[in-house]
Amino acid sequence: MYGPIAPTERIPVYRPYLGPEVTAAATSALEAGWLGMGKLSQDFEHAIERYLGLDGRRAVSTNSCTEALHLAARLIDLQPGDEVIAPSFTYVAGHQALTRTGAKIVFCDVEDAGLSIDPARIEELITDRTRAILAVDYLGLPCHLDEILWIARRHGLRVIEDAAHAFGTLSDGRPVGSFGDITCFSFGPVKMITTLEGGAIVTSDPGDVSTLHELRHLGIDSDTDARYKNQRNWDFDVVRQGYRCHLGSVPSAIGLAQLEMVEEFVRNRQDYCRQFDAAFADLAARGDVQLFGTDWKDVAPYIYVLRVSDPARRPALIEHLKEAGVASGIHFLGAHEFSFYADSRRGPLPVTELATQQVLTLPLHPYMDAGTLDRITTAVRSFFLP
Ligand SMILES: Cc1ncc(COP(=O)(O)O)c(C=O)c1O
Repeated sequence: MYGPIAPTERIPVYRPYLGPEVTAAATSALEAGWLGMGKLSQDFEHAIERYLGLDGRRAVSTNSCTEALHLAARLIDLQPGDEVIAPSFTYVAGHQALTRTGAKIVFCDVEDAGLSIDPARIEELITDRTRAILAVDYLGLPCHLDEILWIARRHGLRVIEDAAHAFGTLSDGRPVGSFGDITCFSFGPVKMITTLEGGAIVTSDPGDVSTLHELRHLGIDSDTDARYKNQRNWDFDVVRQGYRCHLGSVPSAIGLAQLEMVEEFVRNRQDYCRQFDAAFADLAARGDVQLFGTDWKDVAPYIYVLRVSDPARRPALIEHLKEAGVASGIHFLGAHEFSFYADSRRGPLPVTELATQQVLTLPLHPYMDAGTLDRITTAVRSFFLP
């Protein structure tokens, strides 16, 4: 999964880097024989803290971002009947992690420029049941966290940032995760770095760390320190309802190997996004597509998304790309349309309604050669300029 893609091969939307450094790290962790949470899990957390330049904040690794978001919900003690204001336009992992507590989602619209929750539409949805706001950094672009934090402070709310897409993104020069209230990252199979499945949670209060360790591991009060030394503590207390969502040693070793390369992954992806933008600039000028209007300088792009101005043309474009051997994806469907969330309270969602019909995700990988990039841009251009 790291060599060039043959000209006759289908270009997948995702292609994680699983080169020799990664397999060597996994093999060495397997041979070490300590498979569960251990020293490598702590090493990985420290490496995340260094990469994000966390000053006093700590990273707690988990087995997915969904579980990190669930721990965030438990940390702020969401209760049945509590409300969380969240974009409909995001992956349902965030909604599911929160509603698992019995809390309710209140769907809020996104802003048109970056498709993250629109701070101007949040306050009208706040009631005395509102406990938190879920903000998502769509495709790697930073959400409007400062404005959201300001609203939250005024109303006594917590802010959970779903930064599954934004590991490595800077917002006004600050790495995502180094500021804000609670931030959750994904290291899933196709994210900026992968631990196969994995995630992490970072909070502003270092005092949360021991609570998160307990929540992450069955409510056990004292086991994490021993496990971080590849040991077990056989005498422990259980002090709360906990879950089991820690990150084991082999995934952590894979994560450490990936972190060694993350700066190159980010640089490459930024470069490919700029090349896509340049190739589609005339299509944007003609009004065929909309681009996100970023120079990508501070963005760690997880996916590259085009907005097809006329939603009626998207299905034909998807088909055209498929025939040219280019896979595409859709991020996201509107969660307010899912049966499970049919009764959820919501504000007006005009931007969400349109964006869900327009967005189209093109292939973006940590390593892409000129031929692959050319096949993608040619396929898109030949649809609009036959
Ligand atoms: C915005 C968003 N949040 C959360 C997740 C869930 O991440 P994970 O698969 O690590 O649980 C995803 C997964 O793609 C996502 O896109």
